[in-house]
Amino acid sequence: IKVAVFASGTGSNFQALMETKSLACDIVLLVCDKHDAPVIQKAKANGVATFIFDPKSYSSKQAYEQEITDRLKAASVSWVFLAGYMRIVGSELLTAYRGKIVNIHPSLLPAFPGKDAIKQAFEAGVTKTGVTVHFVDEGIDTGPMIQQQEVYIDAAATLEELEERIHQVEHQLYPQVINQLLQNEG
Ligand code: GRF
Repeated sequence: IKVAVFASGTGSNFQALMETKSLACDIVLLVCDKHDAPVIQKAKANGVATFIFDPKSYSSKQAYEQEITDRLKAASVSWVFLAGYMRIVGSELLTAYRGKIVNIHPSLLPAFPGKDAIKQAFEAGVTKTGVTVHFVDEGIDTGPMIQQQEVYIDAAATLEELEERIHQVEHQLYPQVINQLLQNEG
């Protein structure tokens, strides 16, 4: 099973997927919208092909998503996993990959959608937060939930400690959920 990962930043989740020996798919393409994102070097170091695009050089979201879709099809990609992709997925991709686009988000959705979710939870003073893996729809972090894992916030913990803990959980959870999804496919 061939899959693509979409990412805009550091790529620690991308790296965690690459390092999962039991991953039930091949990551054949990294799609990235930022030419200087550290995730690009991680893809190159792992021999993964990249499609790096500048959204501003296209006339519309539909135009760049059309090109992404063409490239996904050309690479026989059947699933798309978002890992820190900082753009809202549009109708072009959602139509082409209906039910096959999955995201990981660092909170217990529907709590704290959007950017800086770990910080949002920390500053809200809640006693627990977590990680959600969900299907992607038109909204921001709104699609049907697949799996969640809770992370308790120690009253003495710093934001940095919480971020580290959340990322550790993400790096375990995402490969696990991906394997479950692909198994169900048969
Ligand atoms: C992760 O926290 C993920 O949940 C969120 O963006 C972050 C990406 O981190 N959607 P990285 O680039 O994988 O290190």
